[in-house]
Amino acid sequence: MEKTKSIFVDLNERSYTIVIGDDIYNGVAAYIEHFANNRQVAIITTPPVANFYLKKVIAAFQSEWQVISYQVPDGEESKSIAMAQHLYSWLIRNHFERKATIIALGGGVIGDLAGFIAATYLRGINLMHIPTSLLAQVDSSIGGKVGVNHSLGKNIIGAFYQPRLVISDISVLTTLPQEEFICGMGEIIKYGFIYDGDLFTGLEKKVNTINQHNPDELLPIVHRCIEIKSEIVTKDERESGLRAILNFGHTFGHAFESFYQYQGLKHGQAVLLGMKCALEVSRKLDLIAEPIFKRGLALIDHMQVELPPGINKPDINDLLKIVKHDKKVTQGRNNLVLLTAIGAAKVVPVEDESLLAKGFEAVLRKG
Ligand SMILES: NC(=O)c1ccc[n+]([C@@H]2O[C@H](COP(=O)([O-])OP(=O)(O)OC[C@H]3O[C@@H](n4cnc5c(N)ncnc54)[C@H](O)[C@@H]3O)[C@@H](O)[C@H]2O)c1
Ligand SMILES: [Zn+2]
Repeated sequence: MEKTKSIFVDLNERSYTIVIGDDIYNGVAAYIEHFANNRQVAIITTPPVANFYLKKVIAAFQSEWQVISYQVPDGEESKSIAMAQHLYSWLIRNHFERKATIIALGGGVIGDLAGFIAATYLRGINLMHIPTSLLAQVDSSIGGKVGVNHSLGKNIIGAFYQPRLVISDISVLTTLPQEEFICGMGEIIKYGFIYDGDLFTGLEKKVNTINQHNPDELLPIVHRCIEIKSEIVTKDERESGLRAILNFGHTFGHAFESFYQYQGLKHGQAVLLGMKCALEVSRKLDLIAEPIFKRGLALIDHMQVELPPGINKPDINDLLKIVKHDKKVTQGRNNLVLLTAIGAAKVVPVEDESLLAKGFEAVLRKG
């Protein structure tokens, strides 16, 4: 268990610890002992992750534990009420009690779905995250947002529900497909932009080697990002203020994702494109100077994400329509997160639609 670090997320009685390390699965059962009040564990995962890691996690438990596992089909479609129904039935059939623990072993889809089950089954049972994608490690496993999609919108049904423990094992990133790795990099770069200029500069320096998934190089970066997200959600657990800056690039990004019906473009890829748009608007409003704009763009471009090839390309009006619709469904305001420096962002009310259009053009010009 060398190179293990932990971060305490201080949320009063909902506080929990995030353990970050390299090859630390053997310790899972010992960690659970700290909060488990019975010996029932239900692992929810997905086949690609199960192939690599399920046995390892199950092996950590002695025979007195009742350990069951369920592999939901891979993909965003599994984040549904229908899948939740299956999982409730599975837990009931296995006589899972109020004191049981759910382990979410997988990427953000599994974290959100299994978290939602933990939040609602018997009005809430223990939840432990073992995030296996880079995006889940640095973002979705921290902060307590859990939920499923509705046919009329993404993440519409859900709750704030904090886990009892998160174990982020860097060694799993070696098997993560490159495209998924880039998605995690999207959120990592976002933290550099909005919160930590030193992180950003460090990423600029390592940009040629970082995409090789080297655990030694990744550990400090993942650690710092978890620290940043924990700090932000500790200050603003239910997103009434500061937490909103985490949406940098997301208003634009969601519009791209939604245009491709959550199929052609993954969330992290959409965020990378969305940050380009937000950079453009920040420059147009003179919040950042040209050199900062160029540095920002260069780092994003290193990730080599573009709109999906093919004739089905959005135009400005498609995208503006989606932004308006999103706002209605989520009762959002006309707020954009914009950059004021490398490492600092603020929320700016933007009523002017042409400004949004200029943002989108930053991506459409080339696409
Ligand atoms: N709750 C939050 O705060 C929050 C924040 C951001 C995103 N999200 C949600 O997260 C989801 C996206 O998460 P994601 O990007 O992790 O996608 P994902 O969960 O679909 O995982 C990506 C892919 O990688 C595979 N995979 C994961 N870990 C692996 C590993 N170690 N080795 C090999 N394959 C592996 C998965 O099986 C899947 O095919 C979206 O539903 C989004 O809404 C939630
Ligand atoms: Zn995101």
